[in-house]
Amino acid sequence: MKRRGQKITMLTAYDATMARLLDRAQIDILLVGDSLGMVILGHDSTLPVTMDAMLHHTKAVRNGTKRALVVADMPFLSYQVGARTAIRNAGRLLQEGGATAVKLEGGSAVAKIVRRIVETGIPVMGHLGLTPQSVHRIGGFRTVGKTKDEADRLIDDARLLEEAGAFAVVLECIPSELAGEITALMKIPTIGIGAGPHCDGQVLVGYDAFGLFDEFVPRFVKQYANLGAQMVEAAKEYAADVQAGRFPAKEHGVPTSDSVEKLA
Ligand code: KIV
Repeated sequence: MKRRGQKITMLTAYDATMARLLDRAQIDILLVGDSLGMVILGHDSTLPVTMDAMLHHTKAVRNGTKRALVVADMPFLSYQVGARTAIRNAGRLLQEGGATAVKLEGGSAVAKIVRRIVETGIPVMGHLGLTPQSVHRIGGFRTVGKTKDEADRLIDDARLLEEAGAFAVVLECIPSELAGEITALMKIPTIGIGAGPHCDGQVLVGYDAFGLFDEFVPRFVKQYANLGAQMVEAAKEYAADVQAGRFPAKEHGVPTSDSVEKLA
């Protein structure tokens, strides 16, 4: 797609129903992001996310997906501690979770591990810039790569990931011109989030894009729907119907003692 100049679309999904809908919309890549720690589990960072949680949600997304590439995030401490652990955990996300590829965060610090995972036959997507598993080192959720030092390091890291065999790299919250420079330097595609329009593809957290997660909406997010507000209205209407005795009504197939009805 990069060679053809076709933009790549990626959204996060955490369950089968959402995956089915996004797959139907022909989204190219469904990312089972460890952002599920914040969006689904209510934590204030991705650090508490475990392998068990990632496997649970990856299986669900796999079950809902026919066409899209399913990429599963490797959670904090599932790969940083060494290649053997990393290979085992990446393998579990494919073997038990049903993912086709894994994503992990970092550049030079993980390049050797990326190479070993790729040599095992597991496709790896990199992730540079604002890497949420390093939020405390970075000093918060902020743009990375504004200084020359940071920008040079990002370019080196991107090269190292490509050399290590990564098939794509997410660039999160970096200046748009820098994302363009990295994109031009690399043969593998870059997928941007908060990194401007020059990347080969774009990714958003599905719950942000559809207006379901409204605790904190980053500036770079475009909300394509306001499903959160619609759900609140729908739930209020349901409660009012129940309280007033309007639901369930006859048309909802209320069973009687002599009726045998199918549920669907
Ligand atoms: O976990 C996630 O959702 C991600 C995307 C923001 C790229 O890593």
